Amino acid sequence: MNDLFLRACRNEAVERPPVWIMRQAGRYLAEYRAIRERGDFLTLCRTPELAAEVTLQPIRLIGVDAAILFADILLPLDAMGAGLYFVKGEGPRFERPVRSEQEAKSLAEIDPERDLGYVMETVRRVSKELAGSVPLIGFAGTPWTLATYLVEGGPSKNYANLLAWSYSDPDGLRRVLSFVAKGSARYLSAQVAAGAQALQLFDSWGGILSAERWREIALPSLLQVIENIEGDVPLIFYVNGGSHLLPVLRDLPVQVLSVDWRIPLDQARAIVGPDKVLQGNLDPGALLGSKEEIVSRTKAMLAAGAGGGHIANLGHGILPMTNPDSARLFVDTVKNSATG
Ligand code: CP3
Repeated sequence: MNDLFLRACRNEAVERPPVWIMRQAGRYLAEYRAIRERGDFLTLCRTPELAAEVTLQPIRLIGVDAAILFADILLPLDAMGAGLYFVKGEGPRFERPVRSEQEAKSLAEIDPERDLGYVMETVRRVSKELAGSVPLIGFAGTPWTLATYLVEGGPSKNYANLLAWSYSDPDGLRRVLSFVAKGSARYLSAQVAAGAQALQLFDSWGGILSAERWREIALPSLLQVIENIEGDVPLIFYVNGGSHLLPVLRDLPVQVLSVDWRIPLDQARAIVGPDKVLQGNLDPGALLGSKEEIVSRTKAMLAAGAGGGHIANLGHGILPMTNPDSARLFVDTVKNSATG
């Protein structure tokens, strides 16, 4: 049983940093594309047999130290009734965006086993098939990051509708984020009950807020999620473009902080202190470079992370044009780094 990842999450001394890759199951793998050809992305998420299969692909093909559930952060919003669909080449869209507290009244409370039972079934299948070989990570988006999609109706350049709401009716927005948080906490608790051994919270767009505004608007609902998760598993908080939030994040009640490539890990460590485990943070673009470049950049990242607990990963999701050999080289470079 490879429990290196879980030991590292708990900040125990480990023989080398564990390694996994955000978006490790995805289009850069021909084996993923082959399964994806049979149906669209949402159908894949909703078919536990296939979702379990693509969850396991990077374990076999890339050799990572943890599996991450194949699903999407937007599925709970769909279960609440916002109407998720994907436009080819453009990404997610919602049929019914929510731009006021009044509009949010149409969102339904979710019962994860009833409304997202296919996700729990995927977790159960993956846990069974992994049989302890590596741990399984469950996940959700943070309420703030989910709101960027729910309010804008899809990906956005400037988040104008959400920002307008946040300035014109911050209390109303906080109440809606709190509603989303309640559903997220239930959803994550159900993942743990089904077998997830760690949870990652994705705040992909937390970095668009200043530290002061992030604390005022995004933090309360994030804390509500964290406080209401049932089950004793390590929590990982990921923020993209959020180096300026680190002085606030050092006090977040999670074991692991996952950061992007814009800040070297030793600088992040100097801000958050010795108690937090850091996860990350190779630039996903580095895996598009030469072998020599990948090895030297990965070693530099490991050296920068060596001053405390560290889980090796990219700073954001792996890019679809990445050669799987490059992903393997990244993983092998970390695995060969054992000291002593
Ligand atoms: O990491 C993994 O391998 C597990 C699966 C996973 C997916 N999405 C599968 C996926 C995870 C953890 C996510 C999280 C997710 N989804 C985030 C947070 C992480 C981040 O990237 O910041 C966000 C913002 C989303 C929303 C989302 N889903 C977008 C914006 C898109 C379109 C962009 C894209 O890459 O196509 C998706 C689609 C999506 N989610 C795909 C996958 C494998 C591509 C689907 C396909 O066409 O096959």
